[in-house]
Amino acid sequence: MIIAANLKTNFTRAKTTKYVDELENFMQSNNISQEVLVFPAASSLNFHDGELIIGAQNAYATQNGAFTGEIGLDHLEEFGIKTILIGHSERRHILGETQESLIKKFNFYKELGFKIVYCVGEPLEMREAGNETMMKYISAQYEGIDTEYKNLIIAYEPVWAIGTGLTPTLDDIEAIHKDLKQKSHAPLLYGGSVKVTNANDVLAIDNVDGILVGSAALYAEHFCTMIEYAQQLENNK
Ligand code: 13P
Repeated sequence: MIIAANLKTNFTRAKTTKYVDELENFMQSNNISQEVLVFPAASSLNFHDGELIIGAQNAYATQNGAFTGEIGLDHLEEFGIKTILIGHSERRHILGETQESLIKKFNFYKELGFKIVYCVGEPLEMREAGNETMMKYISAQYEGIDTEYKNLIIAYEPVWAIGTGLTPTLDDIEAIHKDLKQKSHAPLLYGGSVKVTNANDVLAIDNVDGILVGSAALYAEHFCTMIEYAQQLENNK
């Protein structure tokens, strides 16, 4: 399974290093064979020698150049980073990233063989508009994306469930993951208010290949418990 932590705009470099070390020690001492990804803020990116993988929350589709406020491939290569998150709803909705710019980014990092976690998900009004409208909205987020790319991971994150404590029911997650699996065979993560209290149930759902965790992942101990749940579920298969 894939257990991913999106640290968003949290943790300085010093705190991130401590956090990553804590996770790495946990993985080593508990023989964790799950894929663990951590996405720190851009200014906290660093080399990591170990089992867990560090990825970037965002980067521009460029090696370098005149793109004020952005980082490019040079800044990822400096730390050996080959994993990137693309299309997170906070970037789509708060930072105004369009599908067109996401496609550019996707293709740029795909050409370089990056592992790409590509996020999709609907705002509340789309969910309330019924299944057909909602699926149409989500389908548009697959447009222009190579869904068969071998290093692709998709994360389904309903926008209304992010940071709100609200989640779809387990049945709803199962139904939508089943539908989304028809669009791509890539591993499919669920994200949106995953906590220690619901992680085990979410991970046990058919077609849920892992989780993408925000706020609850900021507690290393909680995130380690979620990694342990995934490990136990795999061991019991
Ligand atoms: P929360 O876990 O805080 O809801 O955030 C989810 C998320 O956006 C992960 O990318």
